[in-house]
Amino acid sequence: MSERTYVVTGAASGIGAATADHLAAAGARVIRCDVRAAEVIADLAVPEGRERLASQVRAVSGGRIDGVVAVAGVGLPSPLTVRLNFFGTLATLEGLRPLLIESDRPRAVAVSSLSAIVAADERIVKACLALDEEAAAAAAAAAVEAGRGRIVYPSSKLALNQWLRSAAVASDWAGAGIPLNAVAPGVVDTETARRTFLADPATSDLVAATMPQPLGFPGPVSAIASLLAWTVSAGNSFMTGQILYADGGAEATLNS
Ligand SMILES: NC(=O)c1ccc[n+]([C@@H]2O[C@H](COP(=O)([O-])OP(=O)(O)OC[C@H]3O[C@@H](n4cnc5c(N)ncnc54)[C@H](O)[C@@H]3O)[C@@H](O)[C@H]2O)c1
Repeated sequence: MSERTYVVTGAASGIGAATADHLAAAGARVIRCDVRAAEVIADLAVPEGRERLASQVRAVSGGRIDGVVAVAGVGLPSPLTVRLNFFGTLATLEGLRPLLIESDRPRAVAVSSLSAIVAADERIVKACLALDEEAAAAAAAAAVEAGRGRIVYPSSKLALNQWLRSAAVASDWAGAGIPLNAVAPGVVDTETARRTFLADPATSDLVAATMPQPLGFPGPVSAIASLLAWTVSAGNSFMTGQILYADGGAEATLNS
C-alpha cells in the first residue's frame, strides 16, 4: 500500500499541529498549511489565499492527495470569523477536491464546534448557506455592532455543519466516492483556548457551565487529533455527512 498524503490547514498550532504530528508519526506525508509557519503559507480568509492554497498544494503534492483535514479557524467576535471558518473552509474543501479525486481512497474532514448547538444568528447562517460572503460578513458586523459579537463564531460553525450535511451526500462528494465529515470538539486545551478564555477563571467557569463536559474540562487535544486522523484514514470508507461530537459528553448532556 502506498504512503498516504494529507493536507492539514491550521497546522501551525493547536488541533491542526497535533493532527499533522499524529498523521506524520503514523508514516504519512503531511502537507502543513497555515497563514504562518507552514510548508504552504496561505491566508484562507481572502480569495487570493484560497487560490494560493489550491495551487501550492497541487505543486507540492504532484497533483494527488488522499485526505484533507480543514482545521484553520478563529473564534473572534468579528466578520473575519465567518470569512475564515465558513468560506475559508469551503474553499479548502472545494479547492482541493480535484486533487482528492486522483486518490483511490479519498477522504475529507472539517473541524466544527460543539458551540454550534448552543446559539446561532439566523441572518449569518442564512447568508453563509446562500454562499454570499459579503452578506454574511455584513450580518456578522451587525451582530458585533449590536453587542452580540460572541454569536458570530457558533453561527459560522452551524452554517458549516448544515452545508456539510447536504454537500457530503451530493454528487461532488459521495457521488465521487469521497467521505466528508466534521468533528465538533467541545472545549479542548489548546494555547489559543487558554489565552482567550481558559486563563480567566470567571470566563472558564461560565463556558464550563454552558457546555458541561462530564468526561473532563477542558479535554485533551490528542483526542481530537486521533479522531480527525481516523476520519481521513483508508479505514473510513462508509461514514459520511456526520458531525462527530468529541466533547466529553456535552452534546449528550445538553440534548437529552
Ligand atoms: N480549542 C478548542 O477548544 C476548540 C473547540 C471547538 C472547536 N475548535 C476549532 O478548532 C480549530 C483549531 O482551534 P485551536 O484551538 O487549535 O486554535 P489555534 O489558534 O491553535 O489554531 C488555529 C490555526 O489556524 C491558523 N489560522 C488563523 N487564521 C488563519 C487564516 N486566515 N488562514 C489560514 N490559517 C489561519 C492559525 O495560525 C492557527 O495555526 C478551529 O477551527 C476552532 O474553531 C477549537
